[in-house]
Amino acid sequence: KTKVLTGITTTGTPHLGNYVGAIKPAIEESWRDDIASYYFLADYHALIKGRDPKRIHQSTLEIAATWLALGLDTDRVTFYRQSDIPEIAELNWILGCMTAKGLMNRAHAYKAAVQANEEAGEQDPDKGVTMGLFCYPVLMAADILMFNAHKVPVGRDQVQHIEMARDIAGRMNHHYKTKFVLPEAVVGESTAVLNGLDGRKMSKSYDNTIPLFVPEKKLLKLIRKIKTNSLEPGEPKDPDTCTLFQIYSAFADATQVEVKRQQYADGAGWGDLKNELFEFLNEHLKDPRERYNALIEDPAFIEKELLKGAEKARAEAAPFLTSIRQAVGLKPLV
Ligand code: TYM
Repeated sequence: KTKVLTGITTTGTPHLGNYVGAIKPAIEESWRDDIASYYFLADYHALIKGRDPKRIHQSTLEIAATWLALGLDTDRVTFYRQSDIPEIAELNWILGCMTAKGLMNRAHAYKAAVQANEEAGEQDPDKGVTMGLFCYPVLMAADILMFNAHKVPVGRDQVQHIEMARDIAGRMNHHYKTKFVLPEAVVGESTAVLNGLDGRKMSKSYDNTIPLFVPEKKLLKLIRKIKTNSLEPGEPKDPDTCTLFQIYSAFADATQVEVKRQQYADGAGWGDLKNELFEFLNEHLKDPRERYNALIEDPAFIEKELLKGAEKARAEAAPFLTSIRQAVGLKPLV
């Protein structure tokens, strides 16, 4: 079976970008019989981005509830919380010892932090950079290589990390003759980067997100806030540079997209386009939103699901890690 694996960092409330970039394709794949899926809550990764224990805990609940509300079947999929699998942390160390520091210097999250310091005129380019941030791609490699995933569905921003995981797997295989699978990133064509309210990439860090399950009224309010240009009704508009159209396309089928394209060419007004997007999105999100609101009130149920997933995941991770320990020489003397 082809193994498909992906994770979401538990630092915030899941938004439309997470949904179209990762969750939606992942859930669709999980119904195929020739695929084994591994989906997880990246809470070790969350420690890199935030130091508010309550926030991380709440986000873990929200992201788990999101997957379940969207119809993830935990009997078909291995669905777990990263920190329930301590084998990942150990593999992280072993892989780190095989990873060139120079490779990490090129990781874009680290480079962005350095660049921000330089732009702010800081003396120390590494100000605020923790070892967690610097080594973030190694931990991600451990997530992926632990289960020998073939495919990793992600948004465009994560592709570099998957390539680094490949690189690290290759080095391990070359030196220790291990048989790590070399993972591949899978990026959806139309949905690689979903933009947010201000037209930049939708991201928790830019505070421009549309959370997936906000109440109806709030959803309408947020959609009305999406930045558009000043073209008047009647003037033809370019759908390809329009965040509204992009969001619509991520949810619509090919025929619906063509109809919408024509509306832009015919000069539909922004107000109408926004109202229609709201109606359309709301139709898609209404039922899962109701399930989500119920699940959030039942953390004990979610915890049970996660522990079931952890048990399945560790049943694979533990013997595999033993084989890796042996390959690198960590084994009993007799
Ligand atoms: P994270 O939590 O930032 O995002 C989770 C997933 O959502 C995608 N995504 C987007 N896709 C399209 N448009 C957007 N605006 C958008 N914003 C986010 C991301 O590309 C990602 O696929 N390091 C990862 C989590 C992780 C992981 C892994 C992923 C940890 N270990 C192993 C895959 C495999 C992260 O921070 O994603």
